[in-house]
Amino acid sequence: MKIGLTYDLKTSIQLRPGGADDEAEEYDPPGTIDALASAVERLGHQAVRLGGGTEFLDKVRINPVDLVLNIAEGRGTYRSREAQIPSVLEMLGIPYSGSDPLTLAVALDKPAAKIMVQSAGVSTPAWVVIQSPEQLPSIARSGLRFPMLVKPSYEGSSKGIRQTSRVANDAELRNAVRQVTSLYRQPALVEEFISGAEVTVGVLGNQPPRVLAVMEVVPRQGRHPDFMYSLEVKRDWEALVRYQSPPELPAACIKDIEDATIAAYQALGCRDLARLDFRIDANHRPYFLEANPLPGMGVYSDMPILAALAGMSYQQLVEQILDAAIQRCGLAQTQHAHHHRL
Ligand SMILES: Nc1ncnc2c1ncn2[C@@H]1O[C@H](COP(=O)(O)OP(=O)(O)O)[C@@H](O)[C@H]1O
Ligand SMILES: [Mg+2]
Repeated sequence: MKIGLTYDLKTSIQLRPGGADDEAEEYDPPGTIDALASAVERLGHQAVRLGGGTEFLDKVRINPVDLVLNIAEGRGTYRSREAQIPSVLEMLGIPYSGSDPLTLAVALDKPAAKIMVQSAGVSTPAWVVIQSPEQLPSIARSGLRFPMLVKPSYEGSSKGIRQTSRVANDAELRNAVRQVTSLYRQPALVEEFISGAEVTVGVLGNQPPRVLAVMEVVPRQGRHPDFMYSLEVKRDWEALVRYQSPPELPAACIKDIEDATIAAYQALGCRDLARLDFRIDANHRPYFLEANPLPGMGVYSDMPILAALAGMSYQQLVEQILDAAIQRCGLAQTQHAHHHRL
């Protein structure tokens, strides 16, 4: 098959003067696209680099592909940016891997995702969204308890989540909220901080989706309930954390995490693949933090790492994602029917 790759490179992004220093954090380095393209080609397909933005618009019209393998984060700071490429592909009638525009947009908007996941019966940290520091009194009225975690409402890759995002008093809370609303220019999501294990779960496929692995992110300094998988840690992951699967948690707890993962995946309408983040409290109760229907696909991103811990190579992971999309889009059947048409 001719497989188009859609992606946004760090180098293709114009940084805003005076913007946050993690503005390009979610975008990919060229090595990730090389790894994806060579996996696709070793599977016997042709890989066509379509890129993102206007480059993608120009290329997709002159180079028709059978299926797009989409990892594009989208352009701008809009909360629906991850929906941009899939929306255009739907307009053009081109099948693509992964979730659709609605799911991608909801998952990037963390408060929207929490509402949907909570209504499917999955626990998520108690929260309040505030538009500006003037609304801080609403947090006191809400009954939310310290410590809290303040984060941008629609970012990923730990953008805007630093060690200072965990706040223990009113002064720290005010500073963290001001940081989010002024530097990231979006509402602040204020959650109760869940002390305990940090877990991320990979999911593959549809009808039914299956858990690939439950992976614990363990600080190299030793487990600590206040550990945060913050921007500082993600940037220096080799020195600061190790990854363990299955986690050091009771079997019943791991089962609860898997059930919560599948319930959240289905509530959000995820397709083909996703990675979901949870914190596990002292009572072994999992709390949904967020879903990543476009998980990082660098060779050392969490999704490929957890796949490796489950015994799946990078190439096998790409194959499973493509297979899920091919099945779901009916592309395998079409080819099959074509061969047997009389
Ligand atoms: N409510 C919370 N309680 C404890 N830790 C949290 C909470 N929210 C976020 N964190 C920490 O911050 C990290 C990043 O938050 P997350 O919501 O996953 O955003 P991102 O999209 O940047 O990955 C989490 O992996 C976790 O370590
Ligand atoms: Mg996360």
